[in-house]
Amino acid sequence: MLQINPNLADLVADAAAGLRDRLNATASITAAAPGRVNLIGEHIDYCDGFVMPFAIDRYIVIAGCANGTKDARVATALDGEIAVFDVSVPQQEAAPKWSNYLRGVIAGFQAKGYHIPGFDAYIISSIPGGAGLSSSAALECAMATFLEGLLDTVMDTREKALLCQKAEHDFAHVPCGIMDQFASAFGKANRLVLIDCQSGEPELVPFENPDLTVIIANTMVHHELSDGGYAARRKHTEDGLAIIGKKSWREVTESDVTGAWDRLGDPVNRRSRHVVGEIARTQAAATALEKNDFGSLGPLMAASHDSLRDDFEVSCKELDIMVEIARNIGSVGGVIGARMTGGGFGGSTVTLCQSSKAAEIAATLAAEYIAATGITPQIFASRPSQGAHLVFKS
Ligand code: GLA
Repeated sequence: MLQINPNLADLVADAAAGLRDRLNATASITAAAPGRVNLIGEHIDYCDGFVMPFAIDRYIVIAGCANGTKDARVATALDGEIAVFDVSVPQQEAAPKWSNYLRGVIAGFQAKGYHIPGFDAYIISSIPGGAGLSSSAALECAMATFLEGLLDTVMDTREKALLCQKAEHDFAHVPCGIMDQFASAFGKANRLVLIDCQSGEPELVPFENPDLTVIIANTMVHHELSDGGYAARRKHTEDGLAIIGKKSWREVTESDVTGAWDRLGDPVNRRSRHVVGEIARTQAAATALEKNDFGSLGPLMAASHDSLRDDFEVSCKELDIMVEIARNIGSVGGVIGARMTGGGFGGSTVTLCQSSKAAEIAATLAAEYIAATGITPQIFASRPSQGAHLVFKS
């Protein structure tokens, strides 16, 4: 039941073939950027919190070349339409929708003074879309890396990730935090990307124990973060902080929240309780992981899910069902912890488990989820993988 992750080399070959077939061009630059899964620290990257994602071995690959004109001509494996747009002028939003992630990144390069030459490109992905696994951040980071190749430049990784985040804000209208673009840009094999979102510093934390497996279960309930729920949550946290009267959530204690409970009012009081609790849980999880203290890690992941479900209200019935199945398998069956991952309102769960039981756990998750919902989930395991990189340039 565990799906096999497509090989990056195969994706690269398919991207080159797509470029040839759809645009009659030969790849001279190929860039790849991964999606991410978050182990813990949800909806607190925009609250100066800590988050603990890693780059998964599922990628967006862009293969292309300069075309000697002032236009970008871009085709994707998912859409019959070829987007053609003039890249010699400041970028604006326009159809097709997916092209805005590219336009946003190009606008970021233009704002830094780069002149973008016309190019042909073909895009292919092994990251399920709308599954809470940051396919949009991967598209942005892959595009930025492709442009580095095209312009023969290397941007500082942090600067590149922030440029991609701005593209998401300005061209996709999702006021996201820094987690997804940082995970996609900074990811490394066998490393978690522990981010202190107050300082904006990522720390690469070893995660190489072969006895541990991370299972990602896509509920197939698609989320759309641009439809307002995400922005509303972010606003609640800003209101909460203003009412509590502190400069940063890092200075806020649990008793600050309980002391201001009525003034905060519902739902801002519950949103605030989530933020303070999740910051503490993520710090505790980082310590637990360092000590291989799985007995502590499981309950922290469980408390994170419950708080996202009840206080932050970003879970949904299907995510709750998938987490509940994992919880029922329990430590006897090899499950260490399970929770929803990413922005929520659908998407995926993450289950940390013993490798020897992973196949069995995946089979149970699939069978019981189908029985409960009638939906066939997509289930795969992933290990921390290399972040955005130029695969080749000739
Ligand atoms: C989305 C956003 C991230 C983060 C998560 C929730 O993935 O892009 O910045 O806020 O939701 O943790």
